Amino acid sequence: MSDNASMMKVRVEDLESGMVTADNVIEPGTERVLLLKGTTLDSVMIFNLKERYNVSEVWIKKNLSAAKIAAEMRAEVNIHASLNTLKDVFGSDEAKPLTDFSKEATQKIKNVTNELITSLYADDNILLKMHQLQSYDDYTYKHCLRVAMMSVTIGKSLGLERHVMKNLCEAALLHDIGKRTIDVDIIRKPGRLTDEEFAAVKRHPQNGYLLLRKNGSYTEDILNAVLMHHEKYDGSGYPLGLKGEQITYLARIITVADVYDALTSNRPYRQPWSVAEAEEFMMGGSNTHFDFGIIKAFLAAFSPFPVGQQVILSDGRIGTVLSNNTNVLRPVIFVKNNDGTEETIDLYNDFRYLKLSIKALDKSNMRFIEAD
Ligand SMILES: [Fe+2]
Repeated sequence: MSDNASMMKVRVEDLESGMVTADNVIEPGTERVLLLKGTTLDSVMIFNLKERYNVSEVWIKKNLSAAKIAAEMRAEVNIHASLNTLKDVFGSDEAKPLTDFSKEATQKIKNVTNELITSLYADDNILLKMHQLQSYDDYTYKHCLRVAMMSVTIGKSLGLERHVMKNLCEAALLHDIGKRTIDVDIIRKPGRLTDEEFAAVKRHPQNGYLLLRKNGSYTEDILNAVLMHHEKYDGSGYPLGLKGEQITYLARIITVADVYDALTSNRPYRQPWSVAEAEEFMMGGSNTHFDFGIIKAFLAAFSPFPVGQQVILSDGRIGTVLSNNTNVLRPVIFVKNNDGTEETIDLYNDFRYLKLSIKALDKSNMRFIEAD
């Protein structure tokens, strides 16, 4: 056993779910490997180590604190439940357009909102979870959940009151519900849309608005945010061509989150944009497409490389984000080199690393959150 700086010996009775083994766990008195190095412990494994195999101590990785990982696992469970609820609300049969939005669905959206807002104020790593919701197979309900996570992150940075945050979150969760009223073959068409198909897609804000208005329990704040989320600050958006502050505040926040998510997500016909390219685009669209005040709040709140995120560096090495710097594009990264040495790389404050940058998110080991 070497390098005690990055690992610690933990008595089996002190193990917690979420801790990661720093070495293989061997059954006492035998050569049998019970758990491989790098395993994330859960309660069943801990029970077996203690009760079945009489293991007394386990080497645990120190890099991310165990408590933090445990909190992330709890948050993941919540996001997983939220994703399932949203899938249910949006209707699991995509081929069947939605014609009604039930009171039961309204309550479910309120529950997901409470879950997200509680996570946000508890400082759960909501942005890391947001990345884990990105996968090739991208359904509208998943996009809506990510947009809601980003919208509330922006809302918190703008200092919105709790009741406004709740409206923002509900509207963001439902902003694209109108897409479920449109023929799925158009929505999921991989190539270029014909003019008629594009016109049909562009009806989704009104359709969503009408669907929710018919439900009867949504306030104007929420209905207008859904209706106006494709308006642009300079009046060139749709469906109404509203300008500046004619577009409600909540709609202007959701627009920022929506466009950023669309740019950085997988599409069947193109690669996702890099975080830097997307941020550049958002900056460039201030006061034409977007409200500049909201873009500033977005840039201040949004960490494209949240703590715990695996990233690929420009020299090909893979590392984990340990903390963020004032320049959010250049965080502190922990890297384990091929020769077994470890390196803490401060991309912003350490001149030795100025030529190094983050090339992409490393998705190879990412645990993506999927609905059941
Ligand atoms: Fe939309």
